[in-house]
Amino acid sequence: MTQILIVGATSAMARGAAFAWAAQGQRLLLAGRDQAELTRLAQDIRVRFKTSAQPVALDLDESAAREAWLDTLEAEHGPIDGLLCAAGWMPDNETMRHGEPALQVLQRNLTGPVALINAFADRCEQRRHGFIVGITSVAGDRGRQSNYLYGAAKGGLAIYLAGLRNRLDAAGVPVLTVKPGFVDTRMTFGLPGLFLVADPFWVGEQIVNAQSAGRNEIYLPGFWRLIMLIIRHVPEFLFKRLKL
Ligand SMILES: NC(=O)c1ccc[n+]([C@@H]2O[C@H](COP(=O)([O-])OP(=O)(O)OC[C@H]3O[C@@H](n4cnc5c(N)ncnc54)[C@H](OP(=O)(O)O)[C@@H]3O)[C@@H](O)[C@H]2O)c1
Repeated sequence: MTQILIVGATSAMARGAAFAWAAQGQRLLLAGRDQAELTRLAQDIRVRFKTSAQPVALDLDESAAREAWLDTLEAEHGPIDGLLCAAGWMPDNETMRHGEPALQVLQRNLTGPVALINAFADRCEQRRHGFIVGITSVAGDRGRQSNYLYGAAKGGLAIYLAGLRNRLDAAGVPVLTVKPGFVDTRMTFGLPGLFLVADPFWVGEQIVNAQSAGRNEIYLPGFWRLIMLIIRHVPEFLFKRLKL
């Protein structure tokens, strides 16, 4: 069995993936800031699935060296075979456009995840073993006035993952990019104008299935690929006039 590190493990989507992996008997390291919730989740998984699940402290806002963090984690829990990075942050639109929150959106959705994935990617490449999954968003496919800071971070992460996939293919290390549309989670709770909202546990299961099938990039649900294809092809002179 493999050991999988899930970052942003309190996310409902990440929980869905954690349950699906635990049902296969995989061992889990559940990382994030909320130790009380992660401890509850780990205990729940151990009881339900009779597999190992441990809470791990990680704050992507801190610019600590992630290589050393991974060394310590592996010394304590053994080698890590896979990484799911589900962490992200999307404050309301007005908040995220200015000052410190703008930088935090970039840190929590792009630079923080990249620092960790970079460190994990290097050891995967050396070992010629492992896998990486990153959750980006359809918001990264085209900048819109309603969330372009978040979209820029997610789009950046998608480009980063594509490059990493290209680099790690030679080492036999698959990299999966996940682009969800609207999902019913804490992040979207109470937001106006949502449509075609997906169940987060279903999304989590699809992530696990796509990873084991060796997929490169998935939209969840799949119809978002067509929606975003259309949105990406609206001419800019028209697009800039839309209230999106
Ligand atoms: N919901 C949607 O419609 C939607 C659509 C497309 C993409 N996404 C993406 O899907 C992923 C999961 O989001 P969600 O919808 O399930 O929302 P969520 O419940 O708010 O999950 C976000 C996760 O990110 C973690 N996180 C935030 N800042 C962090 C930090 N500084 N250090 C470590 N962990 C941090 C949170 O941990 P804490 O418990 O510590 O806050 C939480 O586990 C995110 O990447 C999100 O951007 C969501």
